[in-house]
Amino acid sequence: MRWLGTSFKMTKTRAEAAAYAVRLRQAVGEGVDGVCPFVIPSATALATVADVLGRDSPVLVGAQNAHWADEGAWTGEISVPQTADAGARIVEIGHSERRAHFGESDTTVRLKTAAVLRHGLVPLVCVGESEETRAAGGGTAAVLAQAAAALEGVRNPQDVLIAYEPVWAIGEHGRAPRPEEIAPALAELADLPVRGVLYGGSVSEDNAALLLGLPGVDGLFVGRAAWDAQAYLRLLATVARHAAAGA
Ligand code: PGA
Repeated sequence: MRWLGTSFKMTKTRAEAAAYAVRLRQAVGEGVDGVCPFVIPSATALATVADVLGRDSPVLVGAQNAHWADEGAWTGEISVPQTADAGARIVEIGHSERRAHFGESDTTVRLKTAAVLRHGLVPLVCVGESEETRAAGGGTAAVLAQAAAALEGVRNPQDVLIAYEPVWAIGEHGRAPRPEEIAPALAELADLPVRGVLYGGSVSEDNAALLLGLPGVDGLFVGRAAWDAQAYLRLLATVARHAAAGA
């Protein structure tokens, strides 16, 4: 199975997210052979997107974050059961922006991964090394340590998706990786007994095919380059071609 996902991060009104979902619903129809597409809107648009796509849609909907507790006095947070109630089937955990700005740690990532699995959703655990760590030669070890922390105590790692997203590659200040810069971490992650490993960070229509061809890459997790529905669909066509070629 190949994967193509996007997180809208903190973009799009409900109307904009709904319009995007309509485009996907029309284009994806009954699904794409060998590919699991998913979309992760911001929390305000999650239910809207899930409703537009429909509960049985081949396009999975996800949440960008969820708390590890099922309910309680956690002002501003959203629980995994609440995301499921809104239509989420995936929960993104430990994105580098959350690790950098919102105190997300290996400990909270582990707690959240366990909570998502407990409720039968798919955790999408983001791991990735900083530029400093990479320059010092510790990139792969740091990535593996993050993945190990997330999987600690997990009985069914085959239910977990990993997104390998080097911090230095993410967002408007990031740069697209050269294959040799990400190959070592991908090779190590490929040995984990997880459901799949996605690459993320400055994925574009120009480099998608190259990245999909790297050993250990089961799919792509895309930010900016997929915020336009037509662009997402072009990326989906690339992933579908890749899946068909590898089938
Ligand atoms: P980007 O973001 O594709 O805009 O670099 C990737 C991500 O943060 O997952």
